[in-house]
Amino acid sequence: MSTNVRVQPDLKFVKELQSVGGESLKKCYQCATCSVVCPLSPADAPYPRKEMVWAQWGLKDRLLTDIDIWLCHNCGTCSDLCPRGAKPGDLLAALRNMAYRNLAKPTCIGKWMSSSNYLPLLLLIPAAIYMLIWILRAGVLKSFFPLKDGAVVYGHLFPGDFTIDPIFGAVFLFMVIAFASGIKNLLASFKGMPKTFVVGRGKEPGFLSCLIDTIKEEVAQHSRFRDCGTAPKDVQRFQGHLFLFYAFVALAIVTGVVATGHWGGEFFLKHVLKFDDPLTNLLAAAGHTPMSLANPVKVLANTGALAMVIGLIYLTKRRLSLDKAKSSSSWYDWYLLTVIWSICITGVGSEFLRLVNIPHLAYPTYNLHLISVFMLIAYLPWSKLGHLVYRVVGIAYARKIGRMPPPRH
Ligand code: HEM
Ligand code: SF4
Ligand code: SF4
Repeated sequence: MSTNVRVQPDLKFVKELQSVGGESLKKCYQCATCSVVCPLSPADAPYPRKEMVWAQWGLKDRLLTDIDIWLCHNCGTCSDLCPRGAKPGDLLAALRNMAYRNLAKPTCIGKWMSSSNYLPLLLLIPAAIYMLIWILRAGVLKSFFPLKDGAVVYGHLFPGDFTIDPIFGAVFLFMVIAFASGIKNLLASFKGMPKTFVVGRGKEPGFLSCLIDTIKEEVAQHSRFRDCGTAPKDVQRFQGHLFLFYAFVALAIVTGVVATGHWGGEFFLKHVLKFDDPLTNLLAAAGHTPMSLANPVKVLANTGALAMVIGLIYLTKRRLSLDKAKSSSSWYDWYLLTVIWSICITGVGSEFLRLVNIPHLAYPTYNLHLISVFMLIAYLPWSKLGHLVYRVVGIAYARKIGRMPPPRH
């Protein structure tokens, strides 16, 4: 008995996909080499060949609800070995770019993040905010480059308490709310995914336990990155990402300690809980910036900055050395690397220029640093760094439905 399947291709979607990085998909002649050589793809309904077929047919609904795009680690092996130069790895990257564009609300930011044409607009928002603060404070202090007791003090010109901290607090909250809408849409899109029978597994595990396993294995140890291969370019990518990831963890801890110490943490620990131990004193000292270079929190911050530079060098070198006939880099790839480079250079530059006390260079550099951090955090759910959340959710869900193997322990 035969069944008629009605295929409804969405040609506008195919064009859109090509515009965000899937240019070469029409070249595919479906030999399936890509699915065979992929080091991560499961034996059951492997990727990325099926996505190439769906994309050629314009099967938008299938592609937009495909969990496999979050399991691919963009190692490029499939694209390197594709006999037609159809760049299947780029297609999966393009599908992730489409997800960044559409998952979180408001989707207009997704549109602005999808093309370099909107970069001036995205830059203008933080630039205007920080320039306004600079002008207002310069009026009060009677100088655009003021010194406090003869020294550059950023908090003097850009006061943390009533400008920088509330702005970043609001931006952070905005980012979290946007991510919540993105996660909700992502999970809703997975609802139709078929469940895979896993031999030896009892009942389906809960999402939370899968999330914890994902964080332990894929996030903390980068296990799937390691599984991608042992060629020098794979190792370079694995190590580069590991350095960058732990740099962000270190800097997040530093920010958390400084913010807690500053916003009542010291008072709470010392006067409410009546603690008087070295850890409490450390927290108290970290609440008052600039910190001494010997403060362990400052040491962690500087170690994080160094790890960030190392990770960025690895990842940028790898991206620049890609064979363009086989793998391409999209606007999403370069936006992320450029913003992180910018945070790193202006952050290290601000610290150096403050220490050597050159206000005319220090304040503009610090201003650029604030703009760069804003560009990363405020637009995060719509940028490629959205993978930090969406990939983790995708992998955890894949574990739950048996699409990914259970944990190794
Ligand atoms: C603070 C956390 C993170 C940072 C700063 C970060 C940063 C980056 C950067 C800059 C790239 C681009 C590399 C390139 O251009 O070649 C990248 C790619 C990637 N990241 Fe992360 N990442 C983070 C968290 C995570 C997590 C939690 C996961 C996995 C569960 C992950 C998985 C990946 C994968 C698979 C890629 C390659 C895919 C692609 O380039 O599209 N990342 N990450
Ligand atoms: S993308 Fe390349 S390797 Fe994969 S099926 Fe198409 S032609 Fe074959
Ligand atoms: S890029 Fe790597 S992980 Fe992704 S489909 Fe291709 S071979 Fe598999």
